[in-house]
Amino acid sequence: MKSLAIDMAQLTRELQTLSRFSDAEAPAVTRVLFTPPDQEARTYFRKLAADAGLVVRDDPAGNLFARWVGREPDRPALGTGSHTDAIPFSGQYDGTVGVLGAIEAVRALKRSGWTPRRSIDVVMFTSEEPTRFGIGCLGSRLMSGSLTPVAAAALRDKEGLAFEDVRRGAGCTGELAAVRLPEGFYESFVELHIEQGPLLEREGTPIGAVTAIAAPAALRVQIDGEGGHAGAVLMPDRKDALCAAAEIVLAVERAGNESGRIDTVATTGLCQVHPGACNSIPSRVVLEIDIRDIDLAARDGAVEKVRAAIMHSAKKRNLQASIEVINADPPAAAGKEIVAAIQKACSDMGLNCKTMVSRAYHDSLFMARICPTSMIFIPCRGGVSHRPDEYSCPEAIAQGVEVLARTLAELDG
Ligand code: HGY
Ligand code: MN
Ligand code: MN
Repeated sequence: MKSLAIDMAQLTRELQTLSRFSDAEAPAVTRVLFTPPDQEARTYFRKLAADAGLVVRDDPAGNLFARWVGREPDRPALGTGSHTDAIPFSGQYDGTVGVLGAIEAVRALKRSGWTPRRSIDVVMFTSEEPTRFGIGCLGSRLMSGSLTPVAAAALRDKEGLAFEDVRRGAGCTGELAAVRLPEGFYESFVELHIEQGPLLEREGTPIGAVTAIAAPAALRVQIDGEGGHAGAVLMPDRKDALCAAAEIVLAVERAGNESGRIDTVATTGLCQVHPGACNSIPSRVVLEIDIRDIDLAARDGAVEKVRAAIMHSAKKRNLQASIEVINADPPAAAGKEIVAAIQKACSDMGLNCKTMVSRAYHDSLFMARICPTSMIFIPCRGGVSHRPDEYSCPEAIAQGVEVLARTLAELDG
């Protein structure tokens, strides 16, 4: 394929426009599922896709598909894309590079005069982040059959609203059962994403080809004590839920530090204290815990250590503790042929390409269950992500977009 012209300036402007759809002050971005900023992002995606001559459809969960119809539309399509939802006070590039970058990859291929045999879908996955309903990759889980429609419909947000009602209120119609993709729907899937880690920048390598995606697990723990007056209840008589939670938070950290593996990570990212008054002993604490490893047995071992620590602390303090496993997913192996296509695109461009694992999860974790899948990583400054100072320079993004375009052309055969 002769050279491809990526319109870096246009893509930069589009990423900046998208970043302004947010419930946080710039440069932070907060864009939670089905909130007004998320709806603005969906409208913007539809516009850019339509302007690029793509046919846009949505499904009952709110996944959006922008299709470049191929010459042989009955063959299984090629999929690409990512997400535009963003956790509170995060950055402008997580997910968005893989959505708007994929549209630019299609525009560049069109400008070059290339036409696809297979149709190409640019997918904007709904709810990749777990912020609203506690579980990540809601859209790709439903597409891949990794979550049942009944379980998804019953998910509730912090206000107690059910996903079924929230999605319908956001204009999503039809039954969730229709989200599941038929067997062989996609021939392959490739996602462009910032690395969300320091390796590419540190090694001066412009592109990563992902060979595996780590196994994420999330727990919700509720600890119930007795509460009471902070002045009147003497120490021996207390059942303080937050003191038990503090022991558990440190046990989570130990499960990550003492696994003997650098790949085990464990985080307590959310702690809700009830009633949350300075002069009232905490009667209830809810923790949300995130535990990962690229090795499933190691991940499960860390989860078991945390589970034992929770029960030990509750028993010692004579409190009640309940543990809900929100998700515990296996890791995904990339499709070798997709990795090879990424490597060929890089060699055609004279770029070094590092094969690596993804420690973050992505919708590709679930797309890998229904078709050969891999990811293209580009460097991000300092490896920082899920923070307002997340950054990837226009040149790195444009390079990733060109690798994506060439990879799609290669996969189209
Ligand atoms: O948490 C993750 O790995 C992803 O950014 N949702
Ligand atoms: Mn993220
Ligand atoms: Mn992401």
